Formats: sequence, structure tokens, C-alpha cells
Amino acid sequence: MQIDFRDSLKADSPRIVARVVMQDKLPSDLPRAISEGAQASRFTGKPGQVFDGFTEIDGVVVRLALAGAGKPDAEGYHAALERAGAALTAKYLTSGESTMALDAEASGLDAEQTAAVLLGARLRAWRWDHYRTKLRDEQKRTLKRIVVAGAPEGTKDAWEDAQAVAMGVEFTRELVAEPANIIYPESFVERCQERFKDTGAELVVLDDAEMEKLGMGALLGVGLGSERPSRILAIKWMGGKEGDAPTAFVGKGVTFDTGGISLKPGPGMEDMKWDMGGAGAVAGAMLALTLRKAKSNIIGVCGLVENMPDGRAMRPGDIVTSMSGQTIEVLNTDAEGRLVLCDALTWVQQEFKPARIVDLATLTGAMLISLGHEHAGVFTNNDDLGDDLLHAGKQSGDKLWRFPLAPEYDKLLDSPIADMKNIGGRYAGSITAAQFLQRFIEDDTPWAHLDVAGMVWADKPGATWDKGATGYGVRLLDRFIRNTAEG
Ligand code: BES
Ligand code: MN
Ligand code: ZN
Repeated sequence: MQIDFRDSLKADSPRIVARVVMQDKLPSDLPRAISEGAQASRFTGKPGQVFDGFTEIDGVVVRLALAGAGKPDAEGYHAALERAGAALTAKYLTSGESTMALDAEASGLDAEQTAAVLLGARLRAWRWDHYRTKLRDEQKRTLKRIVVAGAPEGTKDAWEDAQAVAMGVEFTRELVAEPANIIYPESFVERCQERFKDTGAELVVLDDAEMEKLGMGALLGVGLGSERPSRILAIKWMGGKEGDAPTAFVGKGVTFDTGGISLKPGPGMEDMKWDMGGAGAVAGAMLALTLRKAKSNIIGVCGLVENMPDGRAMRPGDIVTSMSGQTIEVLNTDAEGRLVLCDALTWVQQEFKPARIVDLATLTGAMLISLGHEHAGVFTNNDDLGDDLLHAGKQSGDKLWRFPLAPEYDKLLDSPIADMKNIGGRYAGSITAAQFLQRFIEDDTPWAHLDVAGMVWADKPGATWDKGATGYGVRLLDRFIRNTAEG
């Protein structure tokens, strides 16, 4: 989507002219046909609502569109503005029109708010058409350009900033949308190396031999059944004060999860190409933070493996030794995400001494049972960190819901033969997975685990995404850093 700025629409206006409006407060200067039409259509300006009608302005017939952004005092107003922009894109994407005007002046928004509308508009237009060689005409997108008229001072800078976030979200979506024959641990790293070239971020890669030396028996155990070698990728952005302990983001990057010898059933297994969505979100968030030159020290770590069944694969009952020295009885090779994360968590703590850690993982199917596709679960050992994340979630639209941790759950992981087993019982599966990870957090470092299993992929279009990869997590982590680590 191309975004252009100009002073006014007077000279020549595109056919579609959009305005963003507040809920329950239709502007008084609307042409009568539009205000009465909107009321007759029960348009109230709720987030995501759009009404349009044709009207004559200065002798020209225009299609005037009203996009609702809800109430400005709400914690989620920023997300609602994105949603308003996205709803406009969704409506006109394949309408035949190539340009839409956004009447920023009449919308009465400030620079950042205008940029939020544009961010939503751009993100909703994203699609991965790479593998479609035969799109029918009516499937082809026609809307390519938004002309922003009368934007307040500072909008261009705010848009520069928002564009960095857009590129981060789009990078995550690309990584998640790509199938597992294209994105596997090595090619995930290569894509990042290409994308981060000349950005100022530093990339560190560990291969099998180096991980072997470090004693990462849990992560490497998962990769044993795959022809594809495993990798750890660290993306470093040191935009803050020298010597300030960094924030660490850690992502589960299982580029395909067959379950291993504890093989998953066939139907739906194709979904497990997006079992690297946590790592994808970390890479995309690091790109956004790097491109907008965030004033903060941040390390993004991706644990990259493929979980396949094979003659060399781990068996149920095998015992592996993690980098932390703790031993794990692998009772189910399909509970592999925690095995990848535990070594990535130990490594990031030993290597970078982070002030706090947030991990993201498509860790448990149980998370879909409890929260569906509306919230990711958050598990944390630190209430302040939890509150900061919940707040950033509401603001960004990447919503979170908190779950408990407790010694009683932790006990469910005790093994008769090793330090722990990799599965709990039948119940509280998302919590026992989080308890497993907590066993690898040293010295009570503030840590939060986000189980994003229900969020990285959508079967139907949502607030700012089409069906497919959502880019969940990028705006959440970006907002979290803005709020807490750039003062
Ligand atoms: N990647 C899956 C979790 C998952 C399942 C995410 C479905 C999204 C949709 C994870 O590796 C897994 O297989 N977890 C098991 C754990 C169980 C064996 C304790 C699960 O949730 O069934
Ligand atoms: Mn699994
Ligand atoms: Zn998995």
C-alpha cells in the first residue's frame, strides 16, 4: 500500500473519501444523505464499522465512507484506530478502485492516531500471493494507494515509526505463512540475515556442533529425527544505554511439528507449519524495534528445530540432559516446544544476563481449548511484568489473559527416574507446560511465558488481518518496549 500526503483534497479527489469517526458522535458537518443514511443503517461508529454513501461535494460525486473507531477514552483506542483503517481497506481492497482518500483533517486525529489508522489500513492489505500463479480478476486487489489529506503536523514522522512496525508484522506473517519445505531452521536464519542486512542489528547463529558443546541435549534431542539441522538465532539490538541489562525475547521455532515418534493424527497436521509462530513474532518484533531504532537494549532468541519421526528420533521414555544440567524424561515427543525453549532460556540467561525475559510459543493445544482465538495466555513469576504485558496487550490489540502458576502444578512434572518429565497429567496442560519452563529460570529473573497457540494463525479475517498468518505478538512486544524501556 502506497501512502501519500497532501494538504487538501480540493484540486482532485479520489472517488472514495474516508473519515474516521467516534462512537455515538456523528460529526455535524456531514451531508444530510450521509448522516441520515448512517443512522438508518444503524451505524454508530463502533470499532470496525464502516458506512458509505454517494454524495455530491462541490459538484463532484464522491463515495463518502465513515469508519468507526469507538471511544477515545478506551484503553484500546489505538487498536481501534488501526481497526478502523483496516475495515476501510477490507471494504475496498478488491472494489475496482485503486485509490482512497483519508480526510485526516475532518477526522480530527493527532499525528500518532492518524498513523495508527494508516498502519491498520496497510496491514489489512497484506497477503502472501507468492504461490498463486492464477488469480482470477475479481480476486486481484485493486486498492493500492491512500492519499492522506490535511494530516496534522508530525504525521509523516509518526508514519515512519508505524511503518517500521508494519514491516515487522509483515515479516512475521511471511515467516509463518511459508510452508515447512521453504522455512526450516537454516532457511529461517537466512531469511533473517537477508532482512536484517544493514539495519544495525547483530545476528549470532549457533549450529548443531556449537549447541552440542554447550550441552543443549533437550533442544538437540527434538531435532534428532530430522534431516534438517537445528539452529539458535540471536538478534541483538543495542539501542539503549551501554551496560544496561537487556530485555530478552525468546521464541519457539519448531518449523514443523509432526509430533515425532508420538506422531500427531493426520487431519490438520498441516497447521504445524506455523509451530514457529513464537520465533516468527520475535524476529518480526526485533525487525520493528531495529527499524525504528528503539532506545533500548533487546535480544531476540529463536530456537529453531524440526520435529520429525525417524530411526534416529527420540523415543518416548528417553532421558535427555538439558544445558542447565537438569535431566528430562521425554514421555511424549510431541511435547517438544518446552524442550526447545528450556535450552534457549538457559543460553540466553548465561550469555546475556537479561533483566527480564518474555518467551512466546505455540506451546499447547490446551490453550485453544481455554482461550480460543481471542487472547494468548500469560504466565509469569512477576506481577509487575504481567501487568505491563496485559496493558500493552490491550493497547496494541494483541490481547492477553493471565493464568496461574503454583507449586501444586509444578509437582505434576516430577519423574520417578529423572529430574522431571516433559508432560504433566491430563489436566491443566497449558499451566504444566509453563511450570516446566519456570524450572529453567534462574534467580527469580522476571519472566513471562506467552502461549500464543491460538493466535498466530486465523481461519477467517480479523481486525487487521486477512485469513492466514496474523503477525500476533509484534505490536505487543513493540508496545511493551515503548511503555517500559524507552524512558
Ligand atoms: N505445537 C503443539 C501445540 C499446538 C497444538 C499448537 C495445536 C497449536 C495447535 C505442541 O508441540 C504440542 O504438540 N503440544 C501437545 C502437548 C502434550 C503432548 C502434552 C498438545 O498440546 O497436545
Ligand atoms: Mn508438539
Ligand atoms: Zn509444537
